[in-house]
Amino acid sequence: MDATQDDFGPPRDEREVAAVIDILMHSYAMTPEDCEGWKKRQDLGNLRLLREKGQVGATLGLLRMGQWYGGRSVPVIGVGGVGVHPLHRGQGTATRLMRHLLREVRAEGAPLSILYPATQPLYRRVGYELAGGRYEIRVPVSSLGTDERGLRLRAIEAADEAAITACYTRVARHRQGWLDRGAFSWTRVRNPRTETVHGFLVEGDAGVEGYVYLARRPQKDLKYELGVTDVVATTPVAARRLLRFLGDHHSLGTEAVWFGGVDEPLLWLLREQDYSVKLYMHWMARVLDVAAALEARGWPPDAAGVLHLEVEDDLFPENQGRFVLEVASGAARVTRGGEGRMRLHVRQLASLYTGFASADALRAMGLLQADDASVQVAQRLLHGPTPSMRDMF
Ligand SMILES: CC(C)(COP(=O)(O)OP(=O)(O)OC[C@H]1O[C@@H](n2cnc3c(N)ncnc32)[C@H](O)[C@@H]1OP(=O)(O)O)[C@@H](O)C(=O)NCCC(=O)NCCS
Repeated sequence: MDATQDDFGPPRDEREVAAVIDILMHSYAMTPEDCEGWKKRQDLGNLRLLREKGQVGATLGLLRMGQWYGGRSVPVIGVGGVGVHPLHRGQGTATRLMRHLLREVRAEGAPLSILYPATQPLYRRVGYELAGGRYEIRVPVSSLGTDERGLRLRAIEAADEAAITACYTRVARHRQGWLDRGAFSWTRVRNPRTETVHGFLVEGDAGVEGYVYLARRPQKDLKYELGVTDVVATTPVAARRLLRFLGDHHSLGTEAVWFGGVDEPLLWLLREQDYSVKLYMHWMARVLDVAAALEARGWPPDAAGVLHLEVEDDLFPENQGRFVLEVASGAARVTRGGEGRMRLHVRQLASLYTGFASADALRAMGLLQADDASVQVAQRLLHGPTPSMRDMF
């Protein structure tokens, strides 16, 4: 049975914040010092907790941000820090907590939610499905050199932040699934909790063309790993200059590590394939509002088509049933009704929506039923570049 609405919400007082901290210590092996730092940075208004018989049993944090699909920023609710007190586990508490959250954010009008799952069945139960990948990219620092030293390179200052954000956005908007970052994500790039980061930019006559933020992570014998929290280039010369800059750490730097997609373009400039690209985790998405989500994203400007969907959603009756999706000139219109020629659960709609899975492959796995013509339309409209994400939250 679901708890009443009164049992779910942000913390009411310091005692409840302390209960959240207790859950986080049990759930994420956090030390009291970690928790102090967390409390200073956390916007307590973005915490949600579930009270059971007067006790705080579970907590999560929500993040309002955007995510790029088809060149448009779709508002998303990121979910992180989900934790249930060990004494409350295995009784459906996390499932109830997630259901409450999803109802709240859908009522606010959010079309989509995303998260990194430590376990999948819990999130599948409430309608999330695999939707994209975060990959760890590792390159020996000695392999990063190019001949490019021409472009001006300097340390990033506070006054550069707007230009840096604009530079990131020029690239991110064309990377399916990348975040339209808010303050939280930028803090994790520039000022993460546990390490010191330095930022450098390259600029030409027209302004900032690229940048890198990096931490030196000490290893044995003065050696260190280059932890790149973000690297972006908007011109070929900037890309080569940034690689040269990272390569200039080769006397003591061992490997450079950053995150992104399997299709990381900087790797294409390297001489040899002595790097590794390894799946860190697949992230999951939940379509909260079928019509709003489909209309919010961008679509291929040169593709047009009509899809007759029949969606199953056990949590939101508003999403249940038939929809007609019409795509033309880079935009979508969704109306109720139609013939329901493509039948799928709202979970599979999430995989399809982000471009993670093609309609053809979903059908082959028995995860979607459709006629050939509908599959072909979906392939044209929805099977884009593989979605990825650089950021963790
Ligand atoms: C993961 C975590 C949040 C799950 O919390 P929980 O309250 O035990 O989750 P639920 O009870 O809703 O579901 C857990 C299991 O209990 C089962 N369950 C649900 N209701 C039940 C009930 N009434 N009686 C018995 N079992 C039940 C579910 O089937 C589920 O099993 P499955 O996930 O293997 O399918 C919790 O273990 C935790 O805090 N872990 C540490 C932090 C963490 O990993 N967080 C997730 C980060 S993404």
